[in-house]
Amino acid sequence: MTTAQIISGKQVSDEIRQNLKTEVEALAAKGCVPGLAVVLVGEDPASQVYVRNKAKACEDLGYHSEVHRLESDTSEEDLLALVHKLNAQENINGILVQLPLPKHIEEKAVINAISPEKDVDGFHPINVGNLMIGDDSLLPCTPAGVIELIKHTGIEMSGKHAVVIGRSNIVGKPVSLLLQRENATVTMCHSRTANMKELTRQADILVVAVGRANFVDASYIKPGAVVIDVGINRLETGKLAGDVDFESASSVSGPITPVPGGVGPMTITMLMKNTLLAAKRAHG
Ligand code: GUN
Repeated sequence: MTTAQIISGKQVSDEIRQNLKTEVEALAAKGCVPGLAVVLVGEDPASQVYVRNKAKACEDLGYHSEVHRLESDTSEEDLLALVHKLNAQENINGILVQLPLPKHIEEKAVINAISPEKDVDGFHPINVGNLMIGDDSLLPCTPAGVIELIKHTGIEMSGKHAVVIGRSNIVGKPVSLLLQRENATVTMCHSRTANMKELTRQADILVVAVGRANFVDASYIKPGAVVIDVGINRLETGKLAGDVDFESASSVSGPITPVPGGVGPMTITMLMKNTLLAAKRAHG
């Protein structure tokens, strides 16, 4: 039986979007409309859903949005030419190239080509470096969303032991830096970690981003710990599952995120926040 508090990413996300809307209206009165360009190469079904959701979020908030859909055999050169064009386009403040890209295109070259001021994913090395040294940068969306969700529980991060499972560039590494920034003591676990449960059982805050369905169960969790599940795994049945076995974990955890409806909605909301920030910076 679940007695744990369920952290609703949908609810937190709606609250933040409401605040963004107020800011966008004030900005529009000064003649500035935030603009986001989303580039999708090929027909990956999950990517198509994400891209649609991003365009819809722009529409709901009154942003200008452009979706550029390119054939899966588009050359790297043509994609780079589009990125350069968007870099120079004044009505575009944010550029997002949906990943993964087809194998013949080097992701790094594309990410590096995006102007750091318009890099609303926070993936450009300049923004990654700024995050590392604690300078003000466009923060990667999912990690920023994770921090917002923890803040929303009202549980103080300072002085707590946070354990992150996963060390990807998109989630594990940046989220561990952001947790440190909040003055948590951070341990990172990954596929080669020995005695992982010994470490995770010490966690006051556990962030799971491994990309394996139901990887974490109650045996990994200290009673009452905050559990944030970043995983979105499609099961053979077609159902979505997180990296955390919710049923089991929530029998011992404190506040815990569901999948879907946890971290997912926050990622797009943080993208909208970054686009607004980039627009405000562009308009001085
Ligand atoms: N594909 C899956 N997640 C992401 C993301 O956060 N940004 C981009 N650009 N592509 C993704």
